[in-house]
Formats: sequence, C-alpha cells, structure tokens
Amino acid sequence: MALLEIKDLNVFQDRNRQIIRNVNFQVNDGEIFCLVGRSGTGKSVIAKAILQILPPELQRFVSGTVTFDSRSLLGLTHQQILSVRGRGIGMIFQDSLGALNPVYKVRVQMADVFRKYTPKIGRKELRKQSIALLRQVDIERPEEVLEQYPFELSGGMCQRIMIAIALIQRPQLLIADEPTTSLDVITQKKILAVLQRLNQELHMSILFITHDLGVVHQIADRIGVIDKGQIVETQTRDNLFAAPQAAYTKALLANMLRVPALEDER
Ligand SMILES: Nc1ncnc2c1ncn2[C@@H]1O[C@H](COP(=O)(O)OP(=O)(O)OP(=O)(O)O)[C@@H](O)[C@H]1O
Ligand SMILES: [Mg+2]
Repeated sequence: MALLEIKDLNVFQDRNRQIIRNVNFQVNDGEIFCLVGRSGTGKSVIAKAILQILPPELQRFVSGTVTFDSRSLLGLTHQQILSVRGRGIGMIFQDSLGALNPVYKVRVQMADVFRKYTPKIGRKELRKQSIALLRQVDIERPEEVLEQYPFELSGGMCQRIMIAIALIQRPQLLIADEPTTSLDVITQKKILAVLQRLNQELHMSILFITHDLGVVHQIADRIGVIDKGQIVETQTRDNLFAAPQAAYTKALLANMLRVPALEDER
C-alpha cells in the first residue's frame, strides 16, 4: 500500500527552465525507497516540494499531486503542513552539524522538540525518553552525550542525534536527504544499519536520497533513478543491479564498478 504517492510532479524555475519533469513514484508502507541520481538532478527539490519547504520562488511553480496517508499535501496551509511534518513525516539532512544549534547542549535541543509534541512532559520522563532514543540510535553513553554541545561530537554522532530528534515525533515516514554523504565509510555503514533497524523495528518507511549506489545496494527495497529532473526507471533493488534498463542507470553502475578497480591500481 502506498504511504506516499507522488504524481506528475513538476517544478519550474521560471517560464523557460523546468527543474522537475513529470515525476511519479510511491513509497510503500514499511519500505525503504531510494531516490538515486547524480548531483544537481533534482533530488533535494523533490524532497522539499513534498514538505513545501522550497524557497517561495520555486514553491509557486510546483504542480502535480502529493498524497501522504490518503491526504493530499500540496495546497495545504502552512499550519496544516506543520502538523503533517509533526506526526507524519520526519526529515534529516546531509549537514547534521549545521542543523543542530551550536550553542545548546544535546539535552536542551531534544527537550525543545519533545515539548513541542508533548508539552506536558515532566523532567524525569524527558530524561528517560531522551536516553532511550539515544540508545535506539546506538549511542553508547547517552547520559554523557546529553550534556555535550554539537561541536564536541563527531559528524557520525551528530547524525545519530539528528535521527534521534526526528524519531521523537514517531514519524510514519522519514525523508533522509544524503544523511551519510559527509561521513567516512565505516560510520556511514553504521548509520545505515541504524536506519535499517528502525525501519524494521518501528515499521518506519524511509525515502532515502543519495548519489551513492553502494548505499542504495545496502539499504533499498526499491529504487527510483533520477536524471535531469526525470525518473528514468523504478525497480526493485535486485532487478536494478541485475538488469538495469535505462542507459543512465547502466552508466551509473559502470561508474560504481570502476572505483574499486582504480583503487587496486594504486
Ligand atoms: N532555490 C533554487 N532556485 C533556483 N534553482 C534551484 C534552487 N534550488 C535548486 N535549484 C536547481 O534545481 C536543480 C536541482 O537541484 P537539487 O538541489 O534538487 O539537486 P540534487 O539532486 O539534490 O543534487 P545534490 O546531489 O548535489 O544534492 C539544480 O539545477 C539547481 O540549480
Ligand atoms: Mg541534494
């Protein structure tokens, strides 16, 4: 069953330049759907169009339909979309350090979000739930981390904290826009494992955006390949890697396979 359905999504930059062209895809209940394509192909614009957080000059030129949990999102008022962003759809970005506030401890930033969704939460409960969430994203000494500032933590830790903060709302769908791109390969793998576990344990669907086919191979159930603002093919993971249809996908795969070969030559 489709949890998120995008139909005929178009985004224009101006009369002459179209950034997103007739994009159609759906994220099914409980699955990890990856949107993959090179830099500048429109992945982030799609993610932002879904949540209506594009800059106003682009948001004006969005057309098509976005349905989430049987509710049409485009055309909702700002207030209505905020409530969807609360319970329904959470989002994490590539730059987790930039998304966290540098002058507040982790504890305070988590408390802010908790209070937004459960205003009456008591101090003890707040602490208990914050620690539980940090554990859920595999943070080992959560009591210590709560008392730290973002700049004292590694990129991988900050990204875990961003995921934990997104989980406060218990979203049905998490949109993750290149959340591991700035991390080293080992940390990246660990974060992906956390997301996979959350997908299974919490039945949280994920729309995962990346340019990295290695990442896609590790976590995707299904994949949409995007080139120049258009989806060129949608496949299950196994089919995409075994029998890519579009020339663009074949080129992406060929590139991916060439990298280890280059490393061997060094
Ligand atoms: N605010 C904006 N105003 C005008 N054009 C924009 C704006 N934001 C993005 N674009 C254009 O839309 C196109 C797609 O950008 P987008 O950020 O979605 O790419 P992307 O696939 O997310 O790339 P990356 O992998 O580098 O994050 C680009 O050509 C970009 O120049
Ligand atoms: Mg992007």
